Amino acid sequence: MSKAILLSGSPNAEGNTVQVLRECAKTIEANGVETEVISLAGMKLHDAMDFTSDDDGFDAVIAKIKEADGLIVGGPVYWGTVRAQLMTALQRIAMASMQQGNFLSRMVGGPIAIARRGGSTTSIQEMMMFYLANDMIVPGSTYWNIVFGQTAGQALQDEEGMNTIRRFGENIAFLIQKIKG
Ligand SMILES: Cc1cc2nc3c(=O)[nH]c(=O)nc-3n(C[C@H](O)[C@H](O)[C@H](O)COP(=O)(O)O)c2cc1C
Repeated sequence: MSKAILLSGSPNAEGNTVQVLRECAKTIEANGVETEVISLAGMKLHDAMDFTSDDDGFDAVIAKIKEADGLIVGGPVYWGTVRAQLMTALQRIAMASMQQGNFLSRMVGGPIAIARRGGSTTSIQEMMMFYLANDMIVPGSTYWNIVFGQTAGQALQDEEGMNTIRRFGENIAFLIQKIKG
């Protein structure tokens, strides 16, 4: 069965980002693609250009992504941009792909930004840099993938945002199955 990984860049294990990704995962599963939600909460990632540090656990995540057919990234907006640890994660994944046969090539996916109020579209654009430079395929939805919420759980009350995410999930599953045949 095809599989999509949903990676949360939030430091909060039960925050809005993880909750939104779980809802997206439900839609993807309902449309025939297996999912796994992975959180960066509790991880301290070393820089993509740091080749000397000990294993920080992220190579095991990269190994799962390498085997997947889809990769969705959820970014909480901090200080108007994507959280730095998530951008580090994306750079680590991109470098691993380049070193390991371009495993991101034609993988389906896209970004989701979660914010209280400002910086969500610039954060989508930041994360899109990763997708577009790594030969990936990004479907649209009925709006940009942005969801509003501050305290944990609030994002699920953003009806328009969640409908956008559910349609995005449907499009992810649709595309993966078209490509995999
Ligand atoms: C340090 C910090 C900075 C933040 N900066 C912004 C911001 O620039 N714009 C915004 O709309 N929300 C901002 N927020 C709110 C978060 O984006 C919002 O609470 C989001 O739901 C957090 O997702 P999480 O629960 O998965 O961590 C900030 C929150 C924190 C803790």
